[in-house]
Amino acid sequence: MDTLVVERSDPLTGSIGVSGAKNAALPIMAACLLTEEESVIEGAPRVTDVLTMAEILRTLGAEVSWPRPPSGLVIRPDDYSGWTAPYELVRLMRASVCVLGPLLAKHGRARVSLPGGCVIGPRPIDLHLKGLQALGAAIAIEHGDILAQAERLTGATIHLAGPSGSSVLATDNVMMAATLADGITVIESAACEPEVVDLANCLIAMGARISGHGTPRIQIEGVARLRGARWRVIPDRIETGTLMIAAAMTGGDVRIDGAVPEHLGALIDALRQARATVELLPGALRVAANGCLKGVEITTLPFPGFPTDLQAQMMALMAVSEGVSLVAEKIYPERFQHVPELRRMGASITRDGAHAIVKGVARLSGAPVKASDLRASAALLLAGLVADNHTVLEGLEHLDRGYERLEEKLSMLGARIHRERERS
Ligand code: EPZ
Repeated sequence: MDTLVVERSDPLTGSIGVSGAKNAALPIMAACLLTEEESVIEGAPRVTDVLTMAEILRTLGAEVSWPRPPSGLVIRPDDYSGWTAPYELVRLMRASVCVLGPLLAKHGRARVSLPGGCVIGPRPIDLHLKGLQALGAAIAIEHGDILAQAERLTGATIHLAGPSGSSVLATDNVMMAATLADGITVIESAACEPEVVDLANCLIAMGARISGHGTPRIQIEGVARLRGARWRVIPDRIETGTLMIAAAMTGGDVRIDGAVPEHLGALIDALRQARATVELLPGALRVAANGCLKGVEITTLPFPGFPTDLQAQMMALMAVSEGVSLVAEKIYPERFQHVPELRRMGASITRDGAHAIVKGVARLSGAPVKASDLRASAALLLAGLVADNHTVLEGLEHLDRGYERLEEKLSMLGARIHRERERS
């Protein structure tokens, strides 16, 4: 397996652009199954998860092509006949579950393997199934597969709050299915994430009638059919936040082009509390720090709260900030796989269930570390930038799932990182 060798680096400086949002591209790719017309998705990041979703669409019979950048991802569903998303692809990526709604709406049936759990904790889909059943689908679980069938979907009012509040992909699934249902659907306790809003706006471009997206109450009026669309996905707010945290914890001064401040309010607030400077520029964000940050408290919550996908990266910053920081993980209580690895680098972190106490240390020390999930791998990479000696990061398959050339972008800002290819 490839590894990343990360050296202690000087403060990051310069400017960098962000890629399109993986978590917007994935449901938008699934939405293309709601029509037989061609769609073009621009700005999708070339990451493993997007390639996996493309493979799932091909398995269903759609034609998917992706000529070299900057051309878009072209999806031609034509009259695809498949309705089964196989285990060998679904197990690679939980987001595969969001083909369920479109298949059900377009073809009246779908078989999708139950997404397994992952290192960040159990990943239930009860809210997805609750919402689709409310629209009239008959759902059965057979041999590890979800089997969904419905002659016609009929609009309904659906409450989609779960134990941790709203669900992003459940909101996506139900919203997509409702676009072709008879009548009006109201989703109460809908997810408000920018990626849900982007999906809704893309569906509207395809002819769907949706209002209230971005609020906890989304209304969808079913239509007879949808058309293809050309859609540019929003910038990736989690990549943006990862770069912002890297700039702050190295005491640097970085401008991030394409950043959308409205997507990152909670992180901007936390970084300012930590004594970093965050400046809102036209179409960009500037983050600067002077090398002595202060510990802060964060609680992860559904948008607009602090994103769980930035919790690990923020903990790396806390590890080298003055004083004590507190983390409360309300979305995925198990999402602390990065803690033992950060400890190996000298971080002082005490975990208590879904909470962690981080006492800042003067220096981290480089070590061989292993990533376990997408965001933990980013956190360990950032920690390596401020650790003495060098850090060797294994498990790059996780990093490559969701970040497009992250080490190249950080290197352009002065980070000392190189990827060592495994000798075959
Ligand atoms: C999306 O996952 C993101 N993935 C995740 O990003 C992100 O961490 C998560 O939202 C929360 O923001 C994509 O968009 C592809 P949820 P999703 O359903 O939709 C519970 C990354 O790193 N829940 O919003 O699967 C669940 O257990 C990934 O890019 C139910 O109880 O997450 C969790 O506690 C990781 N029943 C909470 O809701 C359900 O049916 C939020 O999960 C569904 C979810």
